[in-house]
Amino acid sequence: MSAFARRDGVLNAESVSLTDIAAEFGTPCWVYSRHAIEAALDEFQRELTGFDGLVCYAVKANSNLAVLNLLARRGAGFDIVSEGELRRVLNAGADPRQIVFSGVGKTAREMELALDIGILCFNVESAAELERLDGVAAAMGKTAPISLRVNPDVDAKTHPYISTGLKENKFGVAYEDARALYRQAANLANIEISGIDCHIGSQLLDAAPFAEALDKVLALVDQLAADGIVLDHIDLGGGLGIRYRDEDAPNVKSYLQPLLQKLAGRQLRILLEPGRRLVGNAGLLLTRVEYLKPGEIKNFAIVDAAMNDLARPALYGSWHDIVPVVPRAGLPMPWEIVGPVCESGDFLGHGRELALAAGDLLAIMSAGAYGMVMSSNYNSRVRAAEVMVDGAQTHLVRRRETVEDLYALECRLP
Ligand code: LLP
Repeated sequence: MSAFARRDGVLNAESVSLTDIAAEFGTPCWVYSRHAIEAALDEFQRELTGFDGLVCYAVKANSNLAVLNLLARRGAGFDIVSEGELRRVLNAGADPRQIVFSGVGKTAREMELALDIGILCFNVESAAELERLDGVAAAMGKTAPISLRVNPDVDAKTHPYISTGLKENKFGVAYEDARALYRQAANLANIEISGIDCHIGSQLLDAAPFAEALDKVLALVDQLAADGIVLDHIDLGGGLGIRYRDEDAPNVKSYLQPLLQKLAGRQLRILLEPGRRLVGNAGLLLTRVEYLKPGEIKNFAIVDAAMNDLARPALYGSWHDIVPVVPRAGLPMPWEIVGPVCESGDFLGHGRELALAAGDLLAIMSAGAYGMVMSSNYNSRVRAAEVMVDGAQTHLVRRRETVEDLYALECRLP
């Protein structure tokens, strides 16, 4: 069953019409499909059958507790990057032994928390971080399990803002330095070397760079073995792309099979950190047309969602399909789909051929990943509600913020 399909012409989320969702929860509103998320996780887990593998969902893609809980219940682990994400996944029922901690700027406090609960692994991104972690662990009388995030210097051929595996990026330890840093780590009393990690970028549509990165990482694994450093796992990061428009995103099988083949016969547990692929196409942003403003040069459709809700178009020039919930008869014309925010960059789509009238509902597709999590309160706009659909049931999994929420943490001068 497709997560979002039409029934009698009306776009549904599973078995619930988006018209009903808008009536019950208002707009703008994020709508997620439980089954789509579960099916996406299944795809990864199926490919890993027969291997010692663990899918550690990259929480940053969508950190709603309901999403996390759903994944935890089905055996997923988590890739986190902050105290906030750590506490979220624990709240959602994660097993600490299935949590990996990524990120270039882990604070001492975050390290303490993670050591205290006993996570699976710290993905260390620099020599300075390694030293700090050793110190924090020593002070607590603990040993910190680590992998080094190695920067394999391969071109992921994706948007420069989300490409992370090149030398010029801030992420990871340079490939040439990794071996020496592992040796150093081996001499640290409160560090236990557990694995090796790489993540080369996001929204990758070509499987080849993954294989290229893996070859480089495996060469390093062998060098380390020669140094007497034996690893128990390899973490291949996330990054598998999805179809937003007409891209040919590789299926999970064609992405993973070549990688698993390279790993066959090695005693290495396999960790993956997919984010977008698990939730991206499992969510949409439901919005209503407030005004139509046809003009000489451009026609503007002003909707009630904006760049503060979905930042991706403004930030990366990303394409999201925009479709009417109830298509109307009439001649389509090109519309600039824009929000109410006071910025010319506040657009959700350019020149979309649609037949529109004020009051129409639109669905902004493929918004389940890096949507709500990147939203802001710019222009003192409240963050939208989040709804999870499960068959014929709807669950409000985050209520819409109120204006009081917006200034609850502020005060006037005495
Ligand atoms: N692991 C690490 C260490 C990461 O930095 C990321 C994403 C992932 C895993 C998950 O990558 P995914 O499977 O979702 O591609 N805001 C951007 C995407 C930023 C990705 C950051 N890192 C966007 O909206 O496209």
